[in-house]
Amino acid sequence: MRNFDYCTPTRLLFGKGVIAQLPAVMKPFGKRILLTYGGGSIKKIGLYQQVLELLKDFEIVECPGIQPNPKYDPSVLLGVRLCKEHKVDAILSVGGGSVLDCSKAIAAGACYDGDPWDLISYKVKAKAALPIVDIITLAATGSEYDCGGVISRTDTNDKIGYIDPLLFPAVSLLDPTYTFTVSPKQTRAGIADAINHVIEQYFTGETTLLTDGLCESTILSLMDSGRKCLANPEDYEARAEMMLCCSLACNDILSLGNSSSGWPCHSIEHALSGFYDITHGEGLAIITPPWMRHILSERTLPRFVKFGTRIFGIDAALDPWEIARKAIDETHRFFEGIGIPMHLREVGIDDSRIDEMAHHIAVNEGLEKAWAPLSERDIREILIASL
Ligand code: NZQ
Ligand code: ZN
Repeated sequence: MRNFDYCTPTRLLFGKGVIAQLPAVMKPFGKRILLTYGGGSIKKIGLYQQVLELLKDFEIVECPGIQPNPKYDPSVLLGVRLCKEHKVDAILSVGGGSVLDCSKAIAAGACYDGDPWDLISYKVKAKAALPIVDIITLAATGSEYDCGGVISRTDTNDKIGYIDPLLFPAVSLLDPTYTFTVSPKQTRAGIADAINHVIEQYFTGETTLLTDGLCESTILSLMDSGRKCLANPEDYEARAEMMLCCSLACNDILSLGNSSSGWPCHSIEHALSGFYDITHGEGLAIITPPWMRHILSERTLPRFVKFGTRIFGIDAALDPWEIARKAIDETHRFFEGIGIPMHLREVGIDDSRIDEMAHHIAVNEGLEKAWAPLSERDIREILIASL
């Protein structure tokens, strides 16, 4: 087991009705709050009105319109400007992972005098960030329990995971009832995103019985609760279990002491979203089986055998290569079975920019050092196999 230094300082308030605690939660951070949100879903579900009512004694500055795959320009820049103009004390993010990710970049940018891109692109290390509280309305990314935010720049097709311990939310309020209205498409994408977060931690060289078990349980729980959420969007227990799985899937707790895989699927998917603005979880589901087929080798075989027998109950007495191939087929079948489009063409990506994307990924993501190393040519082959 490898040494580690681990701390998740985020307080989780989980369950039906936790929003009642919002005024008490916000109070220690000050009076002036930047309220960040997306394209309007929080208004449709009544959450926006509820938040304003609960925070009537605070000064609220609004930063609306944050899009999926949140954009540096205009959203991060707008949020930073508003924080500086109004001397905001803290940020309240209400929405999905995109709103929260954008809020994290705003929180750091608000405490920095230069161009916020310096921080996101790691040119400059942030010295401080505003406190962030969030009410998460979509179970997927785990942003509510990690210190990363993924920001896109349309002018350069960059989509960068900006990670800094300063960006952990101070408090995350998780009420599964707010996720009842998440569309089937976004629910599916959330299931795929969280499952892939676990796969990225599972398929690596050094793991333990403990972390393998945590990962396997999380995937099984996501498959089960995810299917139930799709069958009955208002199934509280299923929405709650999915939400908790998503929070735990991306904050390293499932892989303490393990070596890193290099998160290859995310590295590839970020380019797909960066170039084509597709839904993150759909992109991941599409490339996961082709990536698996591509990296299957004598060396990686044992991981596939364990994955296949534990997750899909494949007969351990079969030939290991057969188990591995069945495991990959079953992974594809699961995603397809819950209704995710499983080809890039179905989400609007053809072969015209494959070379450009493969080059972009190879240059920016360092996948030649991944557990299963990928050259530009490998990445290109995975993308072609995903078409
Ligand atoms: O914009 P609004 O109107 O709020 O609508 C959103 C959006 O259209 C809607 N939505 C959210 N909650 C809803 C709802 N609709 C109805 N009812 C609700 N309760 O859903 C749409 C998608 O929202 P978004 O926030 O984009 O989805 P998600 O939470 O999946 O976030 C995706 C982003 O997170 C990044 C992805 O790359 C992508 O940019 N990631 C962040 C990570 C992190 N911070 O750790 C890790 C992930 O790997 C991922 O990369
Ligand atoms: Zn993800």
